[in-house]
Amino acid sequence: MSKLLLVILALFGAIAAIAGAYGAVVYYGGFIDVSADTPHEPIVFDIILGARERAIERRARDITPPADLSDPERVERGAGNYQAMCANCHLSPGTRDSELRKGLYPTPPDLTKTSIEGTPSSAASARQYWVIKHGIKASAMPAWSKGGMEDSAIWDLTAFLRRLPALSPKQYQGMVAASDGHSHDGVVEKSHDSSSPRRHVDKPGSKPHKD
Ligand code: HEC
Repeated sequence: MSKLLLVILALFGAIAAIAGAYGAVVYYGGFIDVSADTPHEPIVFDIILGARERAIERRARDITPPADLSDPERVERGAGNYQAMCANCHLSPGTRDSELRKGLYPTPPDLTKTSIEGTPSSAASARQYWVIKHGIKASAMPAWSKGGMEDSAIWDLTAFLRRLPALSPKQYQGMVAASDGHSHDGVVEKSHDSSSPRRHVDKPGSKPHKD
């Protein structure tokens, strides 16, 4: 082995040792800042973002949305569930920031502004469906399927999200009121029997709650 090669190898070894020692001090010394009110360094944020997008793209690529995604009944059912389970984090037409949303990091996207109209519809909807179903690790986005939400209810929400950015506050409230309300396990009550204890409609702006 030439002398030069040995020097280069020794140099790499030294760099690796210093990096390892630095990493150990940062890790064991508790220097990693996990607070939600301090953003990541831009480079760290970009790395996480890139990993997230690639991971979702890979997993959502084989999902085909149902043919009746624009069915008005689907959209309406999604409205009730959105108001009950999502609006506090993702906002609704006419509402400004919520206390909850302001404190979260990453900030939940404002889905009243995230328009996927005009994008290749099935890919964008499949992506949203995947995120709603599986959630996103180490963010506040829950995996709704774990709470028992059925695939059909997740598609209803996905269908609703396509319409949401175009809705005025009045149209939104009308849709929520016309929906069959919501259920926390994702099984939407079809009955219009108002004596049913599980059927109710949350007023826009109200907080998610247990029946
Ligand atoms: C407690 C807060 C919270 C609740 C409740 C919540 N989400 Fe999220 N959601 C998030 C956060 C935070 C992100 C962003 C995660 C990230 O960037 O890694 C997110 C991301 C998403 C995305 C991906 C958006 C994009 O374009 O990247 C969709 C779609 C979504 N949520 C839909 C929903 C739906 C539908 C509901 C209700 C069933 C819901 N979320 C409830 C916090 C929440």
